[in-house]
Amino acid sequence: MNLNDELVVKVEKFSNLGTGIAKVNGFVIFIDNACPEDEVRVKITKVNKTYANANVIEIINPSKYRVLPFCPMQKVCGSCQLQYVDYNYQLELKRQIVQDSLKSIGGFDITVPMTIPSPDNKVYRYKIQYPVSQTKVSKRLLAGYYKLQSHDIVNIKYCPIQPEICDKIVDFIRENALNFGINGYDERKHSGDLRHIVLRVSANNQKVLVTLVINGKKVFKNLNNFASAIYNEFESVAGVCVNFNSKQTNVILANRTECLCGQDYIEEKILDRVFKIGANTFFQVNPKSAENIFDYVKKEIKKYEFPTVLDAYAGIATFGIIVSDVAGEVVSVEENPESIKNARDVLKINGIDNVELHAKDTTKYLQSVKRKFDVTILDPPRKGCTRVSLDETLKHTKKEIIYVSCNPATLARDLKYLCEKGCTIQSVQPFDMFCHTYHVETVVILKI
Ligand SMILES: C[S@@+](CC[C@H](N)C(=O)[O-])C[C@H]1O[C@@H](n2cnc3c(N)ncnc32)[C@H](O)[C@@H]1O
Repeated sequence: MNLNDELVVKVEKFSNLGTGIAKVNGFVIFIDNACPEDEVRVKITKVNKTYANANVIEIINPSKYRVLPFCPMQKVCGSCQLQYVDYNYQLELKRQIVQDSLKSIGGFDITVPMTIPSPDNKVYRYKIQYPVSQTKVSKRLLAGYYKLQSHDIVNIKYCPIQPEICDKIVDFIRENALNFGINGYDERKHSGDLRHIVLRVSANNQKVLVTLVINGKKVFKNLNNFASAIYNEFESVAGVCVNFNSKQTNVILANRTECLCGQDYIEEKILDRVFKIGANTFFQVNPKSAENIFDYVKKEIKKYEFPTVLDAYAGIATFGIIVSDVAGEVVSVEENPESIKNARDVLKINGIDNVELHAKDTTKYLQSVKRKFDVTILDPPRKGCTRVSLDETLKHTKKEIIYVSCNPATLARDLKYLCEKGCTIQSVQPFDMFCHTYHVETVVILKI
């Protein structure tokens, strides 16, 4: 097989990165924007030793799972890779991705049940992070998602997967920043002011927290005036913050955030508990789907009689707070001090007194205590857990581990390790938190 070859192939299945897979004489081809059961003409774009990449140049026989994307920008914007696939089939593909990862990485033969759908699959995204740049000639500001596999910004005016107010706020910022002397960021030269616009919207009361990520170290007068202009323009804006990120990095938010107008948080309601979400706090992008996960985990904890629970990688102690009324005692451990500070307020607001908070690395916390927990909830970032943290978890857990993961590959790796150390998998349940993308959230219950 050679570069630029054109072939007609039948797509067999999806890879765990949402590309179609076809085989020619046993040789694997990964095809962008292809759907299982499509018959397509493709052009080879890259040839490696064991596989090739290709683009679709003609759909000869479309798969019965193909649908018309509901967003006019779907083909150019890299955000909703799977919008051309029927939503119910997306759920099946995510189920398969989890099952395949468990098999190929973990060696587990498990029939994974169907992915639980997101309650809303159109407007579901309540956190928006748009990179900002500026055109060279007309000096207009651009803000939107990156094109797939690039850092070229698609200037998004309308995005149907997020609350409408986000389009309006982004537009206001895009149209008015220059009037306040605020330029768009130039990633190559590491120059300019505005790097990202970050919006957090409450699915409960529709209030918005706006964060302007600035390539700078301190507030300047125009920035204060611009923040006031945004705050005064929109009734629903609860506050405008600035985050100072002057490093040459892909990380969106740096550690330091200052509130310039209004309040530095919004309130979200999950299963009748009120949460405070700040600019730097982790909180699920899809609160309604997250509610399904919290409910599922709470039902599991309820099977024990007021157990002691460790909520590790806790964020603002969301799991800890949700399960606190069915647990005897909860310990929530999170390395980000701002999240723990927010969690403290949340405990007060909700009148909860059986959740203990620790702003610490999970492993270090466990190494510093002797206590044991009936159940441990592990909800690590995409990279999963380290072996040391899994060893410590096993040492400190008596009955059960509930592993919540946003990355099937690291989940499978960690489950393999836990099972080698004596755990058994009781159940695996995928949830759709990120509709129209290949991402999937999974909850696994392990008995010790
Ligand atoms: C996927 S989020 C889960 C947050 C929370 N459980 C929730 O549902 O909202 C992972 C969290 O782990 C935190 N984290 C990352 N590494 C950590 C570590 N080594 N020890 C403690 N927390 C950590 C991150 O700051 C982040 O808040």
